[in-house]
Order: sequence, then C-alpha cells, then structure tokens
Amino acid sequence: MGLTTMFMVLLPVLGSIFVLKVPYPGKFELDAERANILAKFDDYYSGAVEWGAEQPSHDEANNKDAAERYFTLITDFFEYGWGDAFHMSPLKEGYSFKASMAYWEQNFALEMGLKPDMRVADLGMGIGGPLRRISEFTGANITGLTNCVHQVNRAKTITEQRISSQWHKDRCTYLVGDYNKLPAIMEENTYDAAYFLESLSHSENRVPPLSEARRIVKPGGIVAGWQWMLRPEFNYSDPYHMELKRGMEYGGGLRNLNKPSERHLEYEAAGLEVLGSWDMGMQAIERGWNGWWTSLTSGHDIPSTLTSSHFGRKLTMWTVWVLETIGVAEKGTLRTAEMLEHCGYSAAVAGEMHIFTPAWVTIARVPPAPKGE
Ligand SMILES: C[S@@+](CC[C@H](N)C(=O)[O-])C[C@H]1O[C@@H](n2cnc3c(N)ncnc32)[C@H](O)[C@@H]1O
Repeated sequence: MGLTTMFMVLLPVLGSIFVLKVPYPGKFELDAERANILAKFDDYYSGAVEWGAEQPSHDEANNKDAAERYFTLITDFFEYGWGDAFHMSPLKEGYSFKASMAYWEQNFALEMGLKPDMRVADLGMGIGGPLRRISEFTGANITGLTNCVHQVNRAKTITEQRISSQWHKDRCTYLVGDYNKLPAIMEENTYDAAYFLESLSHSENRVPPLSEARRIVKPGGIVAGWQWMLRPEFNYSDPYHMELKRGMEYGGGLRNLNKPSERHLEYEAAGLEVLGSWDMGMQAIERGWNGWWTSLTSGHDIPSTLTSSHFGRKLTMWTVWVLETIGVAEKGTLRTAEMLEHCGYSAAVAGEMHIFTPAWVTIARVPPAPKGE
C-alpha cells in the first residue's frame, strides 16, 4: 500500500479517535513507563523481538511476573481490539463478533453446570467481561481475580459505568491476586466451582494454580479450563511448528504451551478428576460456525475487521506509529503492537493448520468427599 493510500485510510481513523474519544492503545497512563515494562518483559523471553528466536527458558516464578507485565502493557490494546473479553471464540455468520463471543461464554457456563446463587471463582478474569455476562446469564455470584492491578481498576470502572442493575452488580466481585497462591479471603472448600478462561496457559506449570482451585472448591465441585493448547497434531520435532509456538508464547505472554494429554496429567497432579475434554473451536466448526482464526485473518464484522484482522492490526500499527511519533501515545506503544503481531500472526497460521486451539475445554471435578464426611 502506498504512502498516500495509507494516510487516506489513517486520517478518518485518527479523526474518529480524537472526535469520538476512542480509548486508543497507549491512552491510559500505566503505573510505570511502558518502555521499561517492555524491556523487563523481553528479558523473560530469549531474543524476544526476533522472529524464530529460542523457546523461552524455565521461569522460577511460574511466569507470574511476566504475565503481570504483559497484561499491564496490552490491556488497552485488547480493549481497543476485542472489547471487554480477552479471549478468542468461534464466529457465526449473522451474529456479530461480540454476540459470537458471548454465545460461547454461555456455552462454557452450561458445560460447567453453573446455577443461580452458586459461589464461583473466575481465576484470570481480565477486565471481567466474561464474568459479568456469565453472572448475568446464570445468576451465579462470581469473584474474579487477576494479578494485574490495571485490569481490576478497569473492571470496577466498567461495572460502575455500564451495569445499571444492583442485582447484577452484587454478583460481580473483583480481586487482585496471584492464582498460584490465592488470597486468604478465598477460603478452602467455599466455592461451588472455579474456572480459568484463557488464563491457565500463562503459567509454565499448571499444577500450582489448579491445586489452588481444587483447594477453594468444595468436594464434588467443578474446576474448568478454556485454554490455549497445542492440538494433538502439533509436532514438537517440526521447526516451523516450534517457531509458531514461540511466536504465540512471546506475543501472548505464555509459556510452555502443551497438548491435552500432557495437560490432563497436570489436572490429575493437582488432585482433580478430568470428566471431559475437547476442542470447542472444532466443535463449533462441526456445527457450521467459522473458525475462531477468522477474527485474526479476514475479520468477522466491520468492527473486528478494523481492529483485530490482519488489515486491522496493520491499521493499529500505523495509527500507533503516528500517535507515538506526535507524542500522544507513550513511547513503547508501537513495540507493544509489534509484539502482539507475533502472537496474532502465529496463532492464525497455527489455527488454520489445525495444530493449535485457544479454546480447549477441560471439565474436571474435585473428588467428592467419602460418604459420612
Ligand atoms: C487472556 S486474559 C483472559 C482474561 C479473561 N478471562 C477474558 O477472557 O476476558 C488472561 C488473564 O489471566 C491473568 N493471569 C495470568 N497469570 C495470572 C496469575 N499468575 N494470577 C492471576 N491472574 C493471572 C491475566 O492477568 C489476564 O487477566
């Protein structure tokens, strides 16, 4: 695309950002300089900015600090590109991007068997979009947790601004904390269910967060995951597969993506019984839906084409380049966009190759207490 065309596309975008006050990436001030956070984040991933660099090495903190930095950096990008839900979802012709996302959130809630007034934990809640919709749909009381203070602040602001019903507000609670060691307020055997919605694969070893979920959920209760996973077809000996894996791990703040058979062992090591496990992305395709990767390739509807599609991501990068150059967006915003591109590109290609899915569902349960207890 020539420079003139690029500016003709960019002008209305920049215009609407200023006129409509769109929360563009780099708008919200972070509690530390973006460029510094980015440098620290890059330290966690060898040769981070290079395509085809080494796989990330073992991290003693179970990737907790890297995930915190990553989400502090990218939350405004995700809000701009995806709205209040930071997950992928299959897409249906005739349904908007948002309606498609909400459909599968509800489907996940049904698979977990959530019911009115249940006490539920959402471990890795983002800015709480899925939590708010699932609590509204099921009537469950949901406590969300994330290790990113910026996200909890956004969740509280959005709840105040967009939720009018007190009934609904009363069912949404937000906490800052690490799911590897849950805050004391989340007591043992006090929840009916806990779920990780595209959050579990940010830890390198899934046993600690799953063990914490098992500890707070009552005997017989459900612990579920909707997870970024390699599909069984993924080949660890194929350098191209491994390059895509690394692109997703670096650009997605993830580590050690693994396959369902390996993940089941992690659930079992945490003392959970796996009841069911499947790729929701493929399940949706069988039902006639489009692959989740459409949002990353061609885009699904006008908003998603303008923000998350291949074209949309380029548009975001150009916009951010202009905003950073004229000093409106913080320094480091463009590099953050490039980092996300590692993830978007790699996930889309791996999805089309059927070697990866962001929507592997695992339903597990805490073993029921022996009779008489
Ligand atoms: C991809 S986002 C998904 C957010 C949300 N479930 C959604 O679908 O919108 C992953 C979330 O996991 C959280 N997370 C990652 N590591 C965590 C940790 N160690 N403790 C708590 N939350 C964590 C991130 O802060 C982020 O909110």
